[in-house]
Amino acid sequence: MQDKVIPIRAAGTERRPAPLYDGTPLADTLGRGLRDLRISVTDRCNFRCVYCMPREVFDHEHKFLPHSAILSFEEIARLARVFVGLGVQKIRLTGGEPLVRRDLHRLVEQLARLDVDLTLTTNGSLLAKQARRLKDAGLKRITVSLDSLDDVVFKAMNDADFPVAKVLEGIDAAAAAGLGPIKINMVVKRGTNDGEIVPMAQRFRGTGHIVRFIEFMDVGSTNGWRMDDVLPSAEVVRMIAAHHPLEPIGANHPGEVADRWRYADGAGEIGVISSVTQAFCRDCNRLRLSTEGALYTCLFAQSGHELKPLLRAGAGDDELRNEIAAVWRARADRYSEIRTAETANLPKVEMSYIGG
Ligand code: GTP
Ligand code: 5AD
Ligand code: SF4
Ligand code: SF4
Repeated sequence: MQDKVIPIRAAGTERRPAPLYDGTPLADTLGRGLRDLRISVTDRCNFRCVYCMPREVFDHEHKFLPHSAILSFEEIARLARVFVGLGVQKIRLTGGEPLVRRDLHRLVEQLARLDVDLTLTTNGSLLAKQARRLKDAGLKRITVSLDSLDDVVFKAMNDADFPVAKVLEGIDAAAAAGLGPIKINMVVKRGTNDGEIVPMAQRFRGTGHIVRFIEFMDVGSTNGWRMDDVLPSAEVVRMIAAHHPLEPIGANHPGEVADRWRYADGAGEIGVISSVTQAFCRDCNRLRLSTEGALYTCLFAQSGHELKPLLRAGAGDDELRNEIAAVWRARADRYSEIRTAETANLPKVEMSYIGG
């Protein structure tokens, strides 16, 4: 039996004042700007997806963060304002499952006052109940994860006995509330749900929703990733195009992770996210804020930069700005470009902790 792997947390960092931020646009060591902030609001989830929170690791003995360790809504909103001052244009709330955090709409209300594209990624399980109040609080759009339309396959992947119909209900409620365009993320694992690629494409063709097929990634250290389980996106596109011809279309914004394809007959678009076979680090403008207030400059990071001690010691906005700017300017991450069988086995922070 495999030893139990403890998901790693942010390294404690010694405090030295960061150099003054001079107000010029931020660029990291590879010339990449900061545009997209992903905020994890909880490390908990009511699913146990096999590629993210395998049940044998995230079991009843797993220690989730205590309430005192996680950032309050006020702390998150304060930091978000500072990030926007540094050039952030999009904020995505993630988890874990963000909708398990109590009264999440109250945080949305605070973030909606900022001039950003405000969105959220959810597994959809609690969406039917919350869609309207999230929209009313100012959420602009939503992304829902769904790995299959077949209950047997879906339950084998979510490992929480959760049925497809409930997620579809959540998607319908989000559409009715005006949270579109809705994106539907499907993680493709070869031999597990690749038979669901064409049915998923066909189910959502013509609905206005955009299905995105994601290559299974070696994120974290617990999901037993193997290259053999990855179905390259090029194959996904070929499989769908054999039924419904597709044409490539350009990105919506610089650094978009999905490659977009539209149906030649005008029935909408799909996306493919090819982090393994076609790394997109060169334009990566994403920064992640963990549930307990640490910054991660890469999804595959081995450690983070604590902001919470500074925040809770009463730092002013300028001090926080200096700190964040220094972290971004020192950034050199390009994990997906340098991935090997060896890097895949390194201890890395879990996606449920820093946000998907
Ligand atoms: P929009 O295009 O604005 O809707 O957002 P998005 O594509 O950034 O959002 P989403 O959270 O839906 O991202 C889709 C998936 O892409 C994530 O769940 C991850 O699996 C993957 N992904 C997102 N960001 C990164 C990244 O920085 N690196 C890698 N390797 N994968 C990422
Ligand atoms: N590979 C690819 N995507 C993953 N996600 C979580 N774990 C993985 C993984 N190992 C993504 C899924 C899900 C989102 C919350 O995180 O897209 O929709
Ligand atoms: Fe939960 Fe999303 Fe991870 Fe699945 S992928 S376990 S729904 S956080
Ligand atoms: Fe960005 Fe790291 Fe993903 Fe590359 S691997 S795109 S640097 S988050």
